[in-house]
Amino acid sequence: MIRKGIILAGGMGTRMSPLTKAVNKQLLPIYDKPLIFYPLSVLMLAGIKDILIIVNRGQLSQFKKILPNGRNLGIEIKFIEQKKPKGLPDAFIIGERFIGKENVALILGDNFFYGQSLTKNLKDCVKLKNGAKVFLHPVKNPNLYGVAKINKQKKIISLIEKPKKTISNLAVTGLYFFDNKVIKFSKSLKPSKRNELEIIDLLKKYKKINKLKAEFIGRGGSWLDTGSIDDFYNTSFFVSAIENRQGLKIACIEEIALKNKWINKKQILNAINFYGNCNYSKYLRKLI
Ligand code: DAU
Repeated sequence: MIRKGIILAGGMGTRMSPLTKAVNKQLLPIYDKPLIFYPLSVLMLAGIKDILIIVNRGQLSQFKKILPNGRNLGIEIKFIEQKKPKGLPDAFIIGERFIGKENVALILGDNFFYGQSLTKNLKDCVKLKNGAKVFLHPVKNPNLYGVAKINKQKKIISLIEKPKKTISNLAVTGLYFFDNKVIKFSKSLKPSKRNELEIIDLLKKYKKINKLKAEFIGRGGSWLDTGSIDDFYNTSFFVSAIENRQGLKIACIEEIALKNKWINKKQILNAINFYGNCNYSKYLRKLI
């Protein structure tokens, strides 16, 4: 059972400058809440309560203003600073002490997941005992992502980071589940041409020992990444359309904690007090 999760929320955010000059990208809004709420909600939906958020050097105090330590959500949130963006597998090197001897989930701080069977899928994934599991999703522009080619049995047969030639339309999304070997494998990686440790190279290590499994979000689910300013607006429109139609919020972290019975009415009242007079608080009040 995976009980620990890491959110990788560092990076320079240069593609979104000047917006990211003073504020970390993961604290910018996706419609009515900071981007970081969305990946955090995915880990919470998976039932993960022990969470490490990796942030850029110097940005810890910004994050702590909105997510102090997790106790308000009945979970535990720890932070660690990444000195330089050395690549995604660096999460398992700087997170080694946090992971200890356990298995671990990783979600990228700028990834957005939504869909009907998502919670069920996540609950299945946290049952992982050994090996690694990735979520694949079809995209129109696969050359922007890590891409996986699968065979008829839905087994991954090749993996390429940002391929020049299209080998498949299946992107490897930013949600991964690993056994404890991930620490050892990450330490053995060499930097790529862009001078980063690559998650695709890490996944190849699991593929080599026949321990890499693919999971599919399916057509009814959505995966959006918020790498560019246009992605930010498109994802915001998506959230706004769904929330305003249904009257239900996506990634309301207090609602998920309440449904999981990790908190009760008292913590919701505290949250209302903390957020102040806003629509988010009005929504929280309706929950109780
Ligand atoms: O979004 C999914 C894609 O994410 C995958 O398909 C690719 O295989 C994977 O390499 C990654 O691609 P990107 O090149 O788009 O990753 P990016 O550099 O944008 O980083 C993703 C997030 O992780 C972003 O929120 C910043 C954060 N980050 C990144 C690096 C390299 C860190 O916190 N530390 C880092 O060292």
